[in-house]
Amino acid sequence: MTSLKTQIENFEFHPEVYVYPTPRTYTSKLTKAEFTKDLNVYIHIPFCKQACTYCGYLKIVNSDLQETYLDALLKEIKTNHSILKNNIKTLHFGGGTPSLLSTKNLKQIIDTISNINPNILNTADEMSIEATPESINYKKFSEFKKLGINRVSMGLQTLVDSEIKLCKRNNFSKQSIEAINILRKVGIPNLVLDLMIGIEGQTVESFKHSITSLIKHRPETVELYAVGLMPNTRIKTHNLMTKKEIYECYDIGRKLFLDAGYHQDCHNRYVIPNKGSFFQEDYLFQGLSLIGFGAGARTYAKNIHYRNNYSNKAHKKAILEYIDDINNNKSPIKSAIILTENEKMRQYIIYNIESLDKKEFRRKFNISFQEQFPQLHQDLTNLNLIQEDWRRISLTTKGLNFRDLICKHLFSENVRKLEEEYRPK
Ligand SMILES: C[S@@+](CC[C@H](N)C(=O)[O-])C[C@H]1O[C@@H](n2cnc3c(N)ncnc32)[C@H](O)[C@@H]1O
Ligand code: SF4
Repeated sequence: MTSLKTQIENFEFHPEVYVYPTPRTYTSKLTKAEFTKDLNVYIHIPFCKQACTYCGYLKIVNSDLQETYLDALLKEIKTNHSILKNNIKTLHFGGGTPSLLSTKNLKQIIDTISNINPNILNTADEMSIEATPESINYKKFSEFKKLGINRVSMGLQTLVDSEIKLCKRNNFSKQSIEAINILRKVGIPNLVLDLMIGIEGQTVESFKHSITSLIKHRPETVELYAVGLMPNTRIKTHNLMTKKEIYECYDIGRKLFLDAGYHQDCHNRYVIPNKGSFFQEDYLFQGLSLIGFGAGARTYAKNIHYRNNYSNKAHKKAILEYIDDINNNKSPIKSAIILTENEKMRQYIIYNIESLDKKEFRRKFNISFQEQFPQLHQDLTNLNLIQEDWRRISLTTKGLNFRDLICKHLFSENVRKLEEEYRPK
């Protein structure tokens, strides 16, 4: 593997490492999963009204499968009733575009969970839904709020109309700002706005414009996503910014957000202190299990990670197979990876990479980070990517920029091999 030093000198880019092991490595069969008592719940809604050029997430556009999918989803939730009796700390609807659900359908899902676990509204710190600006209207989101939704994560991607057009999206800046104003009127306490870095036609200057326009609306949380080139998308790569410019955008974003009073919550998230957050990710990184429902949904238990019917090429087929499996009382779980003690240690570092508690690490794994990874520790120090005191190893500002590249150096041999062998299907 190329050294970190060379990778950084060449401004190599690695897409966000959200979970470890990465889903491309799920090649095992399922064994019994063990969940933590406090639990995150994820629901995948794979329907959209548009196919954005860069997006490889599991979804279908303008489909008539919604009702049958919903029936299957409710059945899958009921089948997992014993796990859902744990303390549900977060519920997140992701997609696709879950904000396209009608209030009736969203209520059906939440009711199904709360019939199993009537305490959910007391234990959940966060009930969150992803949305596109065009799907926001006052009546629907007032009802969503009454159902317990307290966080809306809305994908703007850019506030430059020519870029929206190139992405084949419909949220021109006027619609985006209207949607923000509606969500403010509804009184959603945690408004999250997503912006992307490196979409077609975007320049460093136009990215800066999107950020300064967005900051005026004071969203509690902002997520910045550098575009990952996913299989089977329609993104045209000839007019994308360079990797070096992507890193420049990270620095520009950080400066603008910090100057505006935001706090950098993690490598790609800025929050208004004590207001913004993404608890589902925080709790996952703190070691809470996550159970996912729906096509392509992943579950992260203590001893195993697994995924329901999925394809990154044939999205509709995967969704139909998921529905079929559920209707035929078959398990929709198709692939998994068992976590060895070594993988658990690597996962712990990756999830805590921004600030690793040295004492806690030694307590858990009976070794220090430096003893376990002497060469990497030295490289991180020499390259000024970490700072260290007696308690913690923390990423520096430079380290935060290169967080995903650093994570890649923590992947085990086995995970690297499985990643290399992976072919989209
Ligand atoms: C699954 S989308 C859901 C939001 C909603 N469907 C929308 O598009 O507005 C969640 C976020 O993932 C990000 N995303 C989508 N495709 C991406 C890609 N190829 N690389 C990086 N981030 C991506 C976008 O910022 C998007 O807002
Ligand atoms: S970015 Fe959002 S709206 Fe666009 S295709 Fe992906 S999930 Fe659907």
